[in-house]
Amino acid sequence: MCGIAGHYGSSDTGEVLLDMLKRLEYRGYDSTGAAFLSGSDISTVKGTGDIEKIKENVVFLGSVADGGIGHTRWATHGRASDENAHPHSSCENRFSLVHNGIIENHRKIKSELGGHKFYSETDSEVAVHYIEEKSTLGVENAVVSFMEKAKGSYAVALMDSKEERVFLLKNGSPLAIGIGKKDVFIASDPFAFHSYTDRVLFLRDGEYAVVDNCDVTIKNLDGAVQKRKPEVLEWKERSFGKNGYRHYMQKEIREIPGCIERLEKLLETVESEKVDGFIDALLGKDKVVLTASGTSHHASMLGSRFLRKVGVDARVVVASEFGENFEIDEETLLLAVSQSGETKDVLDAIETARKMGADIASITNTPHSTIQRRSDVNLGIHAGREFCVAATKTFTNQVYTLRKISKRIRGRSSVGNLPSNLKNTIKKNGEAVKKVAEELKNKEDIYILGKGEMHPVAEEISLKLKEIAYIHAEGMMGGELKHGTLALIEEGTPVISLVPRRNSDIVSNLKEVKSRGANSIEISPFSDRFELPDEDEDFIFFSAVLGFMLTYWIGRKKGLPVDRPRNLAKSVTVR
Ligand code: G6P
Repeated sequence: MCGIAGHYGSSDTGEVLLDMLKRLEYRGYDSTGAAFLSGSDISTVKGTGDIEKIKENVVFLGSVADGGIGHTRWATHGRASDENAHPHSSCENRFSLVHNGIIENHRKIKSELGGHKFYSETDSEVAVHYIEEKSTLGVENAVVSFMEKAKGSYAVALMDSKEERVFLLKNGSPLAIGIGKKDVFIASDPFAFHSYTDRVLFLRDGEYAVVDNCDVTIKNLDGAVQKRKPEVLEWKERSFGKNGYRHYMQKEIREIPGCIERLEKLLETVESEKVDGFIDALLGKDKVVLTASGTSHHASMLGSRFLRKVGVDARVVVASEFGENFEIDEETLLLAVSQSGETKDVLDAIETARKMGADIASITNTPHSTIQRRSDVNLGIHAGREFCVAATKTFTNQVYTLRKISKRIRGRSSVGNLPSNLKNTIKKNGEAVKKVAEELKNKEDIYILGKGEMHPVAEEISLKLKEIAYIHAEGMMGGELKHGTLALIEEGTPVISLVPRRNSDIVSNLKEVKSRGANSIEISPFSDRFELPDEDEDFIFFSAVLGFMLTYWIGRKKGLPVDRPRNLAKSVTVR
């Protein structure tokens, strides 16, 4: 799982690749690299760490190159090391290759490549040696032969220095080609090149493309040319920068009230008919199965509750656990929820459900994503680009969208004071949150209790504590505490409870932990630590936002890389 970038044409390749790789870092950032073609020479620069580390070389080598390919990596096969960083070169240095995905049968392919010297532990390196080995048949034939042989998912950019061409190979992982006036751009996500062109060709599974002097030819494995016009994408990117905030996470939390306000307006006006169509699709089936990963899974847990409340038979299955043993049939609507629209576990679930006869609906944030394109109906959450690996404004917009749909089914729909209440929540609790963060920053374990709709929020806050603050945290149903976990509560153990009302059932769980000496922190309108609006129905949002602020400040006080936690990536495109 990684980001691929490439450029060929009249613009400065170094500047272009640098910019594109920065925009792709959300796909992984444990190592980075680029290879440049000048005349028939390839120069490579790569290593562990992010693009900043090789920036100067990229700019210098790129300024004199005709084209280049680049990569930002999230390690799957082989740890993050200089050798494992992409691009990988063939023995004769004729070819250079970057890869996103997993070549499952790489060991078998490698075993057939006697005589080739391998430098890395990656699955990707076999591709460049294989193509070199078979290039005596012609490079294009070698590419086709590799695609017929390789199992798994891949997006590959291969530079051939002898014929000065770039080959793009795709199966499973995304690959987009941007068509400029005098340039061709290549990327795992068109967002990477959208400031240069809005004309995009999306490569499809089982296709390869040949980029030859800015001419792009797409073919299938039978060699038949696949003629199609570039799609013109509409981009409405608001800002790519931190706007004075120290971290994207901080900025993105601040954006939450505005994002909800904007979303509500869109759903009530230009998107209104789309919402009705979405609801028709939902109600047209006997049951709805929501599927998602990570934070989107927590939003889906809430979504299935909202839908059940209005009479829809809805259940939720985490995407990585989705399998053929679930009761999916022609009367099922699979509702995939994904910020990126590229999560492999979710895409696999879609494929399985489709085979079993289900229709596919999706709720996504990133426009033009694979999940959106594979769905029968789609709704966007319009939160704008999110850069911090941990999802914040997209979580609240996902939850808002799912709640909106449910409310419309019931015929009731209004935004109320939510955006202004959220603005106040953020404004009024800054100091209180910092104080609690100071209290919690050195703790090793934190428990978060929620009941009913608060349970998914408790799970979400615990996920954030793990990824942002590197603290082991457990979000759990308050009522389950007494069935085991209570044994772990001792003097000073931090327990955060989400208490929407004075008479909430969770209050008795709170007493149970307090009487065992826990350091009890209540997120509640009645808490003496925080100031939250007493609006029961919107408490999901207030508690989530407070939880985000708290984890942000713990991470920041610990000096952690809040926006890019170790070992993680924003978009996980491998299983
Ligand atoms: C990764 C990210 C999580 C995210 C999950 C699902 O694991 O680190 O923050 O929630 O993927 O992503 P999606 O794009 O499908 O919502």
